[in-house]
Amino acid sequence: MTAGEGADGRGPERPRPDVVICPGGPMLVFGDLVVEDADGEQHRTHRPVSAVCRCGRSASAPWCDGTHKALPPKLRP
Ligand code: FES
Repeated sequence: MTAGEGADGRGPERPRPDVVICPGGPMLVFGDLVVEDADGEQHRTHRPVSAVCRCGRSASAPWCDGTHKALPPKLRP
């Protein structure tokens, strides 16, 4: 590893994003956050990475429960 490389040695170290959108799936959020649902209810994250549902079909809303994987591609977020 040389100066300016990331810990994996594959190039410049980039700051980790706060949010990652998974195409056809959830939104990943990193760290200790509060997610507010459509009803205004607030949900605190308790994991280093949490998956927030974007398809609107999760039985564990606002968290992704994997239901999006059973949806036809055109209904996925
Ligand atoms: S995005 Fe995964 S269940 Fe909705």
